Amino acid sequence: MARVPDDTQRWAPLVVLAALGMAVTATPNPGVVARITQKGLDYACQQGVATLQKELEKIKIPDFSGSFKIKYLGKGNYNFYSIVIRGFNLPSSQIRPLPDQGLDLSIKDASIKISGKWKARKNFIKVSGNFDLSVEGISIVSALKLGYDPTSGCATVACSSCNSRINNVRIHISGSSLGWLIQLFHKEFESSLRNAMDSEICEVVTSTVSSKLQPYFQTLPVTTKIDNVAGIDYSLVAPPRATADNLDGLLKGEFFSLAHRSLPPFAPPALTLPTDHDRMVYLGISEYFFNTAGLVYQKAGVLNLTLKDDMIPKESKFRLTTKFFGTLIPQVAKMFPDMEMQLLIWASSPPNLTVHPTGLVLTFALDTQAFAVLPNSSLVPIFLLEMNTNVSVDVGVRSDRLIGELRLDKLLLELKHSDVGPFSVELLQAAMNFVVPVVVLPKINEKLQKGFPLPLPTYIQLYNLVLQPYQDFLLFAADVHYS
Ligand SMILES: *[C@@H]1O[C@H](CO)[C@@H](O)[C@H](O)[C@H]1NC(C)=O
Ligand SMILES: *[C@@H]1O[C@H](CO)[C@@H](O)[C@H](O)[C@H]1NC(C)=O
Ligand SMILES: *[C@@H]1O[C@H](CO)[C@@H](O)[C@H](O)[C@H]1NC(C)=O
Ligand SMILES: *[C@@H]1O[C@H](CO)[C@@H](O)[C@H](O)[C@H]1NC(C)=O
Repeated sequence: MARVPDDTQRWAPLVVLAALGMAVTATPNPGVVARITQKGLDYACQQGVATLQKELEKIKIPDFSGSFKIKYLGKGNYNFYSIVIRGFNLPSSQIRPLPDQGLDLSIKDASIKISGKWKARKNFIKVSGNFDLSVEGISIVSALKLGYDPTSGCATVACSSCNSRINNVRIHISGSSLGWLIQLFHKEFESSLRNAMDSEICEVVTSTVSSKLQPYFQTLPVTTKIDNVAGIDYSLVAPPRATADNLDGLLKGEFFSLAHRSLPPFAPPALTLPTDHDRMVYLGISEYFFNTAGLVYQKAGVLNLTLKDDMIPKESKFRLTTKFFGTLIPQVAKMFPDMEMQLLIWASSPPNLTVHPTGLVLTFALDTQAFAVLPNSSLVPIFLLEMNTNVSVDVGVRSDRLIGELRLDKLLLELKHSDVGPFSVELLQAAMNFVVPVVVLPKINEKLQKGFPLPLPTYIQLYNLVLQPYQDFLLFAADVHYS
C-alpha cells in the first residue's frame, strides 16, 4: 500500500543528517557515530525545499492602495487587491554545513508568479483590470542552528538567521492601453510588495523550520525497545556537529536492560571515521554497541540453555544419554546405566566482540553442567566444563536492521569439576564440537537474525549498502531514499 507522505515526513533525510554525526570536545565517546555527507545534505535539501515551497505559496499578500498625481488633472487613488501567489519556483538551493555552527540554507534565483486585480479612480473616471506580475531573482540565506536537549538526548533545530533579497519585480497589465497609468504607481507598488515579501519569506522559513523540521526531529528514535529484555539508547551525547564536509552526530549507542539499567563496566573507544563521502549516510558502530548487548543479554540469562536429547537431530550419532557418553567416559555408563542426560549451558561472563579490519571475532566462555536424569526425573551432576569459544561474526543489514550470524572457529574445553572421577577432557572435544555449532549457536543465530534497529527516522529506505569492519568499529554506509 502506497503511503502519501505529508510534509513533515519530507524532512526525513535532513533529520538523518542532523541526528547522525560526530562531535569532538570533552564529550564521552559515542557508541555510534552518525554522519551525513554533502551528498546526503543535497538529497535532504531537495526534499526539504519541496516542503518550504508549499509553505511559501501560502503567503498572503495584502491589498495595496495609494494616491497618484497627474499634471493638470490633479490627484487620484489606486488599489491593488485580490492578490494571490500562483507559484513559487525554487530552482536552485543548497544546504551546506557551517563548521562549528550548524547548517547554511541558501536559495538562489527563486521567482514568484502573482496575479491580482487593480483599479484606479480620479473623480468620475474609473479604470480597472487584472494584472500578472513576476518577482524574480529572489535569494534567501538562512542559518540553521542545531543543538540537543541533554535531558532527552533529542536533537533540536532552529532558524538562527534569515535574509531574503528581491532583485526584480515585473508587472504586466492585461488588456492595457493603460500601461502608462500603471507606470505612475509602479514604483510604490513595487516597494510595498518588496517590503511585504521580504519579511514574509523569512517568517515562513523560520516557522517551517520550527513547525515541520523540529517535530520531525522528535521522531528520531532516542530509545528503542528490542524485546522483553533490552532496549537501545540512541540519544545524542553532544550537539550535532558540522565540519567542512559533513554533519556528524554522536549517539550513545548502548544497549540497556529494561528491568534494571546500570552503567556498563567498560567505556566506548574513540572512533575516527574514514573520510569516505560517496554515500549519503555513514554509521560508525563501535564494538561498544555490541558488547553492551552481550552484557545485557548475558545478565538476563538469555544465554542460559537446557539441552535435552530430543533437541539433538534424530539422525545424529551424538546422543544425550549415559550410553553415548559412556563410550567416551566409561564411568558415566557404569554409575548411571541407560539414562538420559541434560546439559545446562550458560555464559559465565559477557561475550566480548572485537572488530578488526579483517573481521569480527566474538570470544566468550560457556559453562556446561552435565546431568544424568534419574528415572524419577531428579538430576544428578556428572561434570562441569568450561568452554572458551572463538566465533566469527558475519554481519549484514536487512532493511533498516543490523543482523548477524555466528560461526564457530575454535572451542577450548577445560574440566572444572567432575563427579565421576578424573577423565581427560579431550575425550569430550568431538562431542562439544558438535553440540556448540549444531545446537547452541543456532539458538543465538535465531535471535541475531531478528536483528537490531538502526537509528533512522521513519519513511527512510536504504540502498547501496556497504558494511566494512575497521579497527574497533563497523562502518555502515548507505544512500537513503525518502518514501
Ligand atoms: C543462568 O544459569 C546459571 C547457572 O545455572 C545461573 O547461575 C544464572 O543465575 C542463570 N541466569 C538466569 C538469569 O537465570
Ligand atoms: C575484549 O577483549 C579485548 C582483547 O582481548 C580486551 O582488550 C577488551 O578489554 C575486552 N573488552 C571487554 C568489554 O571485556
Ligand atoms: C529420586 O531417586 C533418587 C535415587 O533413587 C533419590 O535419592 C531421590 O531423592 C529421588 N528424588 C525424588 C524427587 O523423589
Ligand atoms: C581467540 O582469538 C583470540 C584473538 O583472535 C586469541 O587471542 C585467543 O587465544 C583465541 N581463543 C581461543 C579459545 O582460541
